[in-house]
Amino acid sequence: MADFSADMQPDALQHLAVPDCRYYASVTSTNDLASDWAADGAMDGSLVIADTQTAGRGRLDRRWVTPPDSALAFSLVLRPTPQECQKLALFSPLGGLALCLALESCQLQPQIKWPNDVLLHGKKTAGILAETIWQGDAPQAVILGIGVNVSPKAVPPAEEVLFPATCVEEAAGRPVPRWELLAAILEQLFAWRKLITSPVFLQAWETRLAFVGKRVQLMQPNHQIVSGIVAGISPEGGLRLTLADGREQTFSAGDVHLRPFGENPVQ
Ligand code: BTN
Repeated sequence: MADFSADMQPDALQHLAVPDCRYYASVTSTNDLASDWAADGAMDGSLVIADTQTAGRGRLDRRWVTPPDSALAFSLVLRPTPQECQKLALFSPLGGLALCLALESCQLQPQIKWPNDVLLHGKKTAGILAETIWQGDAPQAVILGIGVNVSPKAVPPAEEVLFPATCVEEAAGRPVPRWELLAAILEQLFAWRKLITSPVFLQAWETRLAFVGKRVQLMQPNHQIVSGIVAGISPEGGLRLTLADGREQTFSAGDVHLRPFGENPVQ
């Protein structure tokens, strides 16, 4: 894949609702820079992109590796409206849905491994880290960080991951220009953000949910493991599981790990 900065097409993002964009060859974490920028008054939709991250992170404080020339690593500063403030937990699903729709436009069939991983052929290709910045009890910004393995160089070695990983180009069987993919993701994200509080949004997300009707295991914050059949998504973005006794229980993303049944959930 060609060098990202050499590839850089400022025009690619011009038709989008991105008021300002900062591109870096290398940063610690785009979420950190976006967070600092938010504190400094960044406008809604401001974008931080990096070719490589030295301290990229994922959910549950896991490491997220972004090698150069091979991945997308970016963070958006979003200023939630009063309506969106009631639905902050849906920003991460917004990222997941936007990723899926962008990948579908590349003739791929992604799925969402609840709460925030995007799978291609059952393997993790992308992850989302949504962090809210609070002032007292008022949300000031949501930093929506998205990382995508685009070319094979971005895929971590099997022994370093908790869930099998792949990349967009492996699934597509052809080179995928990063700027085009980024523009497609952002386009979907801004379009679907308008629907974030509507049932249509949850339906679109649920349609792409992986393991529906299949048995999975969840490890809860108290390290207890729950097993159940995936029934769907709750209006708040929680996972609905049908338990062994037939009861349905909803789990919120919090600190939960999800694994298909039979795989070790305690990782
Ligand atoms: C996960 O899989 O747990 C989420 C991974 C999120 C990675 C992205 S890459 C851009 C942004 N910067 C980070 O440090 N993390 C997110």
